[in-house]
Formats: sequence, structure tokens, C-alpha cells
Amino acid sequence: MQVLSVTPEIFPLVKTGGLADVAGALPLALAGQGVSMRSLVPGYPAVMAAFNKKKPLLAYPDLHGGKAAVYSAETAGLDLFVLDAPHLFDRVGGPYGDATGADWPDNWRRFAALGVVGADLAGGRVAGYAPDIVHAHDWQAAMTLAYMRYGRAPSVPSVMTVHNLAFQGSFPASIFPQLGLPDNAMTLDGVEYYGGVGFLKAGLQAASAITTVSPTYAQEIRTPAFGMGLDGLINLRAGDLHGIVNGIDVEIWNPETDGHVAAAYSAKTLSARAANKRAVEERFNLDHGAGPIFCVVSRLTWQKGMDILIPILDQIVASGGRLAVLGSGDQGLEGALLAAAARHRGRVGVVIGYDEALSHLMQGGCDAILIPSRFEPCGLTQLYGLRYGCVPIVARTGGLADTVIDANEAALSAGVATGFQFAPESGDALLHAVRRALRAYSEPVVWQALQLQGMKADVSWDRSAARYVELYNSLISKQTVDQ
Ligand code: ADP
Ligand code: GLC
Repeated sequence: MQVLSVTPEIFPLVKTGGLADVAGALPLALAGQGVSMRSLVPGYPAVMAAFNKKKPLLAYPDLHGGKAAVYSAETAGLDLFVLDAPHLFDRVGGPYGDATGADWPDNWRRFAALGVVGADLAGGRVAGYAPDIVHAHDWQAAMTLAYMRYGRAPSVPSVMTVHNLAFQGSFPASIFPQLGLPDNAMTLDGVEYYGGVGFLKAGLQAASAITTVSPTYAQEIRTPAFGMGLDGLINLRAGDLHGIVNGIDVEIWNPETDGHVAAAYSAKTLSARAANKRAVEERFNLDHGAGPIFCVVSRLTWQKGMDILIPILDQIVASGGRLAVLGSGDQGLEGALLAAAARHRGRVGVVIGYDEALSHLMQGGCDAILIPSRFEPCGLTQLYGLRYGCVPIVARTGGLADTVIDANEAALSAGVATGFQFAPESGDALLHAVRRALRAYSEPVVWQALQLQGMKADVSWDRSAARYVELYNSLISKQTVDQ
């Protein structure tokens, strides 16, 4: 089976969050299950630098205002189609915005162009390539499915995966005439969304099936509290909605072979983590000490609940905890965290920035990872935490609720607990969970049991990749019956 994945990010070439990890790992996991997945990605500078251009597979004299071409590339174990369109993607900054974080004003054009090309690949414009399924990730890839539906490949089955409903790609109606879609696409069951154009909405409407990245989030987004305006549409399509939890790449995230930690270790040699803890202390200017180090590795945003954590930092420190934070995002949150580090020298350390290698060291050396998200479609850092014996303390929402087993009395005595959950989303509830963790940490036998149980959890892609294969197969057979 051939699947075309259309994605705005892919690890290790371009990453702003978990979507990149998923888009990078899924093709490798599917390869083991007889599915060949090729990924169409925008030709950002980091992508163009990763391969040598040969003859293009497709050429566009004018794709949304400039020349463009599609190249085939094999790099980092990935099979790619790269959309080389310098007027859209050859820019200094991030994939979606400039160095100050402001969105590129022509994002609609950039990702409409990606959609046109995705739909052309789906429709067989490249000789010898005809995918059985198209799988689009988030709003940036969603227009692929609209362009397919309105002419380019109406009969190829498709999957729209929602990694985060908060990002929808909503634009004013004035862009519609420039999208090159038929007039009848600007309707309620087409691309129209609250009077404008909604890219994710268009994809949700056009997809044969919709998936999101955990069963709990799949339920949550059917409610107004989590649906972000799309719950009505998602409910209408509930029969085609699936929650498939993310896995992680267990080769890249393997404490036994990880080149980013000071000392590699396994479940059998947990005491070797001590060297990593010392390395974290050095890196974050923390006092050497016996107590636990809690960490945060996160975008610093409202979604991630950092404003729930910040007001209780003083109490965490007063209760004997130390804290290491790696992240970047809202300036107000960055400032508040830096202020906490200045107030609690030796107890709180903060690194503002994005540092893949340091994130590995923290999972390998910190005792627990705090994830107080307000909503979390899946979340990957708790999965890395489980695999590394860095016990997750998580809000009971979305994929966090699905992947961490709370250390209540029953779970502890059954030996199945892997971390701590808290609800509701409040400082008091989070502090209560942190204090439960401190108590557990003071009993080494209990703590080690939590670590080992987490390290045993199957966080690989095996089961979830099989669920995607099942879904792809069901869509292909349904299409055969329909025709
Ligand atoms: P989201 O995609 O919503 O940000 P996830 O938990 O799914 O959340 O994925 C976040 C990914 O980004 C993880 O791989 C995490 O380790 C990584 N990450 C987040 N912030 C940083 C940072 N400041 N430095 C390094 N890695 C980070
Ligand atoms: C999004 C979500 C996160 C999820 C990731 C990968 O960024 O916020 O919860 O893990 O996508 O699916």
C-alpha cells in the first residue's frame, strides 16, 4: 500500500513541536507493517539543504506567484517529495513566521500551494506514482483534501489528522477567489467557515476519515469546551472520527543508546541516572542535593498551563523540590520563570530556548516531568518521560489521561502506576500532585517501582501504526464497494 503523507514539519529536518516527531516516526513504523509512506514537505531552507536537487518530478511555471518544482529526496531514512517554491518557503525564520514569532502574512498562500501540489500528487500527476490513501496533518496540509475533492483526485480516500484543534488556519473570505477552487466550494459544507475560509474546516469536511491523536481528545473535541468552534462539524462526522494515540521513535528515544545523556542506562542500571542528574544540576545551576528535580520541557503557552505552574513555584521549592525548565514562547511567561529562577537561586533553573539535545538530558536526569496542560491532544514529553524513568505528573486531559496511570492506592498496590494525574486545572490540584510525588520520592522502593513500571510501558508505534493500517485498509475497501 502506498500512502502520501502531507505535512508542514518532519523530524529531523524541521520541527516546532510534536507533529514533526509524529510525521517523522510514522513512516518508519508503517514500513514494518507493509505500508510505504512518502511525505510531501515544503522546501524550507533546512529541507533544501538536506538533499541534492536532480531532475524535478513536477514543475509549475506559476504556483501562487512564482516558479515551483517538486523533487524526490531520500534523507534521514525518509522518502520525501519536496516542494521547492522559493517565493513561499525560502525564508529566514520559522516554518510559520519570522524570527520575532509573527506569522508570515501570506501563510494562506504558502499552505494553499502545498495543498495544490498534494492534490496533484494524489491525482497521479507524477508518472508511476498513485497513492492509495492521502494522509494530511493539521491545517497546513488540510487544503490538499479540498483540492482533491474539488477536482484533482475526488476518488482517492483520505485521512485528516488533527494534532491540535487550536490551530485552524482561518482566513478572510477575500482570499477565496485566489484559491482556484470552484465557486460552489465557498459553502457551509465546503471551505466556508464563519464567513471566511477555514483550511482545517475544509479538510475535516472533505476527508474520508478524521483522526486525532488520542481517544480522550477525540471525545473532548466533540464538546464546546474543547471543540474551538468546530465541535458541531466534528459531531456531524462522529462516525468517521478515530482517536489513535501517538507512539514515539524508540530508537531515537532510547536511554540505553542516547548520545545526548551523560550516562546511558537501562531499567537494570537505573542508578547510572545519577550522573545525568548531576549534569542537569550543572547545566541549570542547581545546588547539588538529595531531593528530586522536577522538569518542564515545553512551549511556554496558555495551552501548556504554565500560568498554573508559575504561581505555585514558591510552594514547590518550599516543599523541597527543585525545578529545571527548558522552553520558549510567551514573553510574559518567560519573564515570570526567569524571575522565579532569580528568586530561588540554586533551586530553580531556567533555560529559554529550543534545545533538542538538552531535552534528552533532562528526561535522562530529572526525576519527574511536569505537564499541567489545559488541553493536550496527545503530548509526547510524558511518553519520553515514561521511557526514561522521568516520572510524569500530568493534567488529566487528552492524551495525558490516556497514557499515564495515576499512582493512587489501588494502582500502586496492583503495581501498575506510572505517574501522577491531577484535576481540575488549578494550582492547588497541581501542588497536591507534586506533594504526592514528593512523598513517593521519599520512599525509594515506591519511586523506583513507578520508574520501572513506566519504562515497561509500550510507548512504541507498533500498536498505533497497526491502527492506522487498519483504518487505511477499511477506507480502501469502502471505496471499492462505493465505486
Ligand atoms: P506540542 O507539539 O503541543 O508542543 P508535544 O508534547 O506533542 O507538544 O511535543 C513537543 C515536542 O517538542 C517534544 O518532542 C518536546 O521534547 C519538544 N520540545 C518542546 N519544547 C522544547 C524545547 N524548548 N527544547 C527542546 N525540545 C522541546
Ligand atoms: C500537537 C499537540 C500535542 C501532540 C502533537 C503530536 O502539537 O499539541 O499534544 O502530541 O501535536 O500529535
